Amino acid sequence: MSFRIQPQPPARPNRCQLFGPGSRPAIFEKMAGSAADVINLDLEDSVSPSDKDSARANVIAATRDIDWGTKTLSVRINGLDTPYWYRDVIELLEQADERLDLIMIPKVGCAADLYAVDALVTAVERAKGREKRLGFEVIIESAAGIAHVEEIAAASPRLQAMSLGAADFAASMGMQTTGIGGTQENYYMLHEGAKHWADPWHWAQTAIVAACRTHGVLPVDGPFGDFSDDAGFRAQALRSATLGMVGKWAIHPKQVALANEVFTPSKAAVAEAREILTAMEAAKARGEGATVYKGRLVDIASIKQAEVIVRQSEMIAGG
Ligand code: COA
Ligand code: MG
Repeated sequence: MSFRIQPQPPARPNRCQLFGPGSRPAIFEKMAGSAADVINLDLEDSVSPSDKDSARANVIAATRDIDWGTKTLSVRINGLDTPYWYRDVIELLEQADERLDLIMIPKVGCAADLYAVDALVTAVERAKGREKRLGFEVIIESAAGIAHVEEIAAASPRLQAMSLGAADFAASMGMQTTGIGGTQENYYMLHEGAKHWADPWHWAQTAIVAACRTHGVLPVDGPFGDFSDDAGFRAQALRSATLGMVGKWAIHPKQVALANEVFTPSKAAVAEAREILTAMEAAKARGEGATVYKGRLVDIASIKQAEVIVRQSEMIAGG
């Protein structure tokens, strides 16, 4: 593996994924008019069992009838532990417009989950003569999902993105919280009598980022449930961006601008990255592999770090 170049993830913006229940078609136009890069129409946990069939029909119609512009259009299907998922896949593939870009598979626990869905999707695509190959995204939101995260990231050439689903993850892990992401009151260190809050999502996030970066998949932070808490959302998103994630979900439209702001490299960050690249060009011309920029060391690794920021900014501007 190690002599191979690390694969690049899909070159499309994924700063914010806006969710909406498939059973609430009145908001679909508003979702299409939002500034989110990705739209996730949901058939899973925001839709009650009695609405599963009608939600599926709404979502299929929306792939045809609504102008989604340049957004990535994704539908979250039901989990493989439900009686609904196979109809979700078959009806979407048989009836949805080819405008549909992705399906999101929730609660994946092992690579074989993706293999099973891939087999079904491939068969229906062939039967229907669909020209556009459907992509996948998955949610890591169980103990099994995080335990098998690397094999899941490698499981299908269709896989484009992987999100952390904090609420189901917490439940599956037996974590003592009902919060969806963010600071947890009882997760702190004590130092000289003062509490210092730590981040209980950190390990899962970094495990997801490592698996994704190894296999060319986009790592994404999932929902932040308290949509009245803008500062809390922003703090969580800043941590995710710092760790290498490319975006975050919005479960309310007011979270879209917050996510876009955090996951778009700032002008200052891009300018500094370009200055580092220029400084390293000059160092190279002098035959040096390291130099000093604003009083700190920069070397060949700094070129790669700066290129991450420049590449992200150019991709977003181009998208
Ligand atoms: N996308 C686009 N627009 C939305 C929206 C969404 N997800 N949720 C609400 N809106 C619209 C409302 O229609 C309303 O529009 P208006 O000003 O034209 O009347 C406006 O945004 C303000 O909505 P608000 O009254 O604050 O929220 P609500 O009570 O209508 O809905 C939720 C709140 C949380 C139930 C709703 O946002 C929602 O269903 N979110 C997604 C849940 C989901 O998909 N979960 C699964 C992933 S975890
Ligand atoms: Mg979930």
